[in-house]
Amino acid sequence: MKKKAVVFGITGQDGSYLAELLLDKNYDVVGVTRRVSTGNTGRIAHLMDCPRLSLVEGDLTDYSSILRIIEEYQPQEVYNLAAMSHVGTSFDQPLLSFDVTGKGCLNILEVLREHSPFTRFYQASSSEMFGDALTQRGGDKFQDENTLFRPQSPYAIAKLAAHHATRLYRQSYNLHASCGILFNHESERRGGRFVTKKITKYIAQLYTHFEKGGDQESAPLLYLGNLDAKRDWGHAEDYVRAMWLMLQEDKPDDYVIATGETHSVRDFLKASFETIGIDDYTTFVRQDPRFMRPSEVPYLKGNYSKAKVVLGWNPQVSFSDLVSRMVDYDIKQIKERETVG
Ligand code: NAP
Ligand code: GDD
Repeated sequence: MKKKAVVFGITGQDGSYLAELLLDKNYDVVGVTRRVSTGNTGRIAHLMDCPRLSLVEGDLTDYSSILRIIEEYQPQEVYNLAAMSHVGTSFDQPLLSFDVTGKGCLNILEVLREHSPFTRFYQASSSEMFGDALTQRGGDKFQDENTLFRPQSPYAIAKLAAHHATRLYRQSYNLHASCGILFNHESERRGGRFVTKKITKYIAQLYTHFEKGGDQESAPLLYLGNLDAKRDWGHAEDYVRAMWLMLQEDKPDDYVIATGETHSVRDFLKASFETIGIDDYTTFVRQDPRFMRPSEVPYLKGNYSKAKVVLGWNPQVSFSDLVSRMVDYDIKQIKERETVG
């Protein structure tokens, strides 16, 4: 039978890759977009001609719009990727973050419980929920499905509320509802305010500055916050495959999705500078208190053994490939803009 999936957050990084994957598998895809005054469909522009993709307006904070969409399309699968996903911003907008990222998920769960109990549901949970908690085994420190949650941001608290709500609806109402506890994943399409994209966009700018004969004195500077935080960074293309695999299982469950490697922001910075032949980044980078957070998650490294065994999932893109793909893409973007301009 041909399947239909509703994707909340289709205009985001993950939404765009998931839409590609589902269309590739011959699904009918219904993408939910927010009404905004300027365009927000840039990441899915290349898919817009596909007759199996339809876009419908809706907002996660509006129960009635979710109800209307689920009743109209009767999907076999619903993916909730929508969120206010920037951790730093959640400190400035905690209430909005909770309404969208926490309560928004509950809105979908309530609609499914009452009106579409056989629809399978995916919730985008986050490694940010672990906060400063970890599991220590021998010399190894990591997070897995059994690690405690100790969230350190309004975003993480909202995600944890959504995570527990999803588990509760699975247990109490028998919904096929699964959570992917995804560790950081980036890509060419990553939003410009996340640290990896901020770095690779800057590297592209610096590269073209030197290419045009600019000197070190007139080179732009990069302003960053905490360089010591460690993250487990993978590529979004790999991670959306895991989302789909979870909904194909007979039994719903929660899974950690990660690479099993951890690198500091400083490591990412160094690796990015090395792609353009610069060994010492310190001349070009300044620490700026504006980008420090009131509370930080110091260390994330995921143990994805469960996903490997049950789903047969493995990450394919290495840390160094991720860095070079993002830098190459950003350099190409600048060149294309200059050609058009
Ligand atoms: P993203 O690029 O920021 O995309 C977020 C999406 O949510 C966008 O499509 C956005 O729409 C939509 N959205 C925001 N508020 C909404 C609302 N009120 N109603 C409906 N849609 C709304 O995030 P991402 O990196 O693709 O991440 C996807 C999901 O995974 C998010 O829930 C994120 O929190 C979670 N997650 C991400 C990572 C990661 O490292 N990327 C790791 C763990 C979990 P607009 O385009 O209109 O803004
Ligand atoms: N954004 C940002 N900007 N982060 C900076 C900067 C800066 O200028 N300088 C240092 N950092 C540090 C942050 O303090 C954090 O420790 C780390 O870089 C990563 O920050 P982000 O790229 O903003 O990602 P995040 O880890 O806070 O959150 C991402 O991953 C979560 C999963 O762990 C987001 O994608 C979340 O939506 C996701 O849930």
